[in-house]
Amino acid sequence: MKINKIQLQNYRNYSLLDINFFDGINIIQGKNAEGKTNLLEAIFFCSIGKSLRASREKEVIKFGEDFAKINLEIKKKYKKSKISVYFSKNTKKTININKISIKKISELMGEFNAIYFSPDELKLIKERPEDRRRFMDIHISQISKQYFYLISRYEKVLLNRNKLLKTLADKKDIKETIEIWNAQLIDTGSKIIKYRQEFIKNLSPYAIKVHKYLTSEKEELKLEYTGLKESDLEDIKNKFSKELEKNFEKDFKLGFTTIGPHRDDIKIIVNNIDIRLYGSQGQQRTVALSLKLAELEIMYQETLDMPILLLDDVMSELDSKRREKLLKFCVKAQTFITGTDFPKDKNLHYFKVENGTVRHENI
Ligand SMILES: Nc1ncnc2c1ncn2[C@@H]1O[C@H](COP(=O)(O)OP(=O)(O)OP(=O)(O)O)[C@@H](O)[C@H]1O
Ligand SMILES: [Mg+2]
Repeated sequence: MKINKIQLQNYRNYSLLDINFFDGINIIQGKNAEGKTNLLEAIFFCSIGKSLRASREKEVIKFGEDFAKINLEIKKKYKKSKISVYFSKNTKKTININKISIKKISELMGEFNAIYFSPDELKLIKERPEDRRRFMDIHISQISKQYFYLISRYEKVLLNRNKLLKTLADKKDIKETIEIWNAQLIDTGSKIIKYRQEFIKNLSPYAIKVHKYLTSEKEELKLEYTGLKESDLEDIKNKFSKELEKNFEKDFKLGFTTIGPHRDDIKIIVNNIDIRLYGSQGQQRTVALSLKLAELEIMYQETLDMPILLLDDVMSELDSKRREKLLKFCVKAQTFITGTDFPKDKNLHYFKVENGTVRHENI
């Protein structure tokens, strides 16, 4: 996949932008607060239909304006495609693929695949299990519309089940009604677990390989999906059902569902220690980067089209050896790397970002 062109109107600090990019590595350089991250944010928006940063999407509309627009022209393996997003102060955002408006975000999944990495992604390793579940969910949703549907269905069922657990009804009454929600929870939840187990199984060998490469073979990574260990879908369903039954008293007491894929996690081990608890900052950062680069590889395997790689501000955090290795790795994808300054290299394409403008620079 390649981005040929991006156009922005009133998007954050961009009034009007119209710029073409190159195959290979596009270096996006500029001082702080000039608009580098905003540009990557706009690109990634077209991949997942959401902002990585804004909790309220209207935040992306330029101060003092009423609407914002992103137009992205991409070249996929066999066809060209155009994604447009329109944000308005007063109405809901609309997303068009080739001028046809989509009704559900799930229709966007798989249209334009991108991997985004910034120093913030360290939270993938360091912080809550929720961040690691989001990592799995975003990836699998991009390659499977069914998974995207399963996740939203599961959330609704879970919400209803929890609501029921919180009511003051008699335990016996609840037990009868809860069966309806259990059946759906087991059905969607087991499929989610199966998808995630497969994802980790596929990701692992690549993550281990990339990690070895970045650490010059000094460290050994291991990934493990926590939660149910059964691998056959029917076995997962049976076990999940038994676990729900076993935990009913506890769930009833606490007023929420204590087991299921919404509580699962990825365990990350480096040289036999849990990196989340005991890893150094540098080790954690390298693992986070390895996971993302492995994601790029498996997304390629899964879709047979190389996704776009967006690396926000990562170079400054790496030593020169790892930087060099990273650049070598990136040539396989169309890559966008932001930073404040880069040494000149004739194999790379340079763009200068200045106060909401982007200019191609010849070297
Ligand atoms: N809705 C908006 N309207 C106008 N300007 C905005 C809006 N949202 C953010 N900005 C501004 O855009 C500017 C550029 O932000 P951005 O995060 O892209 O900077 P950056 O080039 O990535 O900087 P850094 O090197 O510090 O990461 C910031 O000064 C920010 O205040
Ligand atoms: Mg930035």
